[in-house]
Amino acid sequence: MKVTVVGAGAVGASCAEYIAIKDFASEVVLLDIKEGYAEGKAMDLMQTASLNGFDTKITGITNDYSLTADSDICVITSGIPRKPGMTREELIGINAGIVKTVASSLIAHSPNTIIIVVSNPMDTMTYLVHKSTNLPKNRIIGMGGALDSARFKYRLAEALDAPISDVDGMVIGGHSDTGMVPLTSHATRNSVKVSEFLSEERLEQVAADTKVGGATLTKLLGTSAWYAPGAAVSGLVQAIACDQKKLFPCSTLLEGEYQLEDICIGVPVILGKNGIERIVDIPLSDAEKEHMQASAEGVRKTNGLLEF
Ligand code: LAC
Repeated sequence: MKVTVVGAGAVGASCAEYIAIKDFASEVVLLDIKEGYAEGKAMDLMQTASLNGFDTKITGITNDYSLTADSDICVITSGIPRKPGMTREELIGINAGIVKTVASSLIAHSPNTIIIVVSNPMDTMTYLVHKSTNLPKNRIIGMGGALDSARFKYRLAEALDAPISDVDGMVIGGHSDTGMVPLTSHATRNSVKVSEFLSEERLEQVAADTKVGGATLTKLLGTSAWYAPGAAVSGLVQAIACDQKKLFPCSTLLEGEYQLEDICIGVPVILGKNGIERIVDIPLSDAEKEHMQASAEGVRKTNGLLEF
């Protein structure tokens, strides 16, 4: 199992680290345009192998896509991250060109690859990969919902004063401060609905804190977060690599599901060796349906800025 991660910045390197630590891939290739940077990160990570107990081989490459050949899974983290006060949508001008070039360079050397898009604005970048390549839809996956759901569970556990392992919940919709749809009514504490423990106001606060999860960290860190994004990507990569048939919310091309078409947005999917093996169309409350449609409007507005 060969996995390529493009972009050796904080998110790409964290992603490579978590994949290696989970020790399911034979090789992780880290590629960056900055001379020597991916090589340095790969060497540093390889020097943790004996300490952290993994055998995955991590190789660093400066911009030579021929060395990514025959990757089973490719992760695109390239582009600029947001600065405090910026929205993810404001990154489109620079990141669209980068993501388009990176995707076509990867596919040229790995025509059978599955692509995971992390670069922001992620739903629009996922749509761009659909429009600019001929990969089937099951092989293009946008990573946002897995991260947003992890942040939702963190906030739920905090509000409940419960361990995270007691909590389950999911965020669908666009990966943006206004577009996320935390499914509060579906969230549970060990099978008991969280509304049994938390007031409506507290749950609204949990949802609001979840939606600005990335922005809160960007303000604290001066750039966007990397540990949880890296861990979320590694979870998707593992589900595909190990054919786990796990359910995650991911951005995928919809063709009528959730009453949406010709858009990539976060919905629950089953991930296995073929990438997205099934879209799970769950019933939503009227309020959630309304949020989902408004979220799709926002994503479409950003998609409208794309030039093909
Ligand atoms: C975040 C970025 C990765 O939400 O979109 O932290």
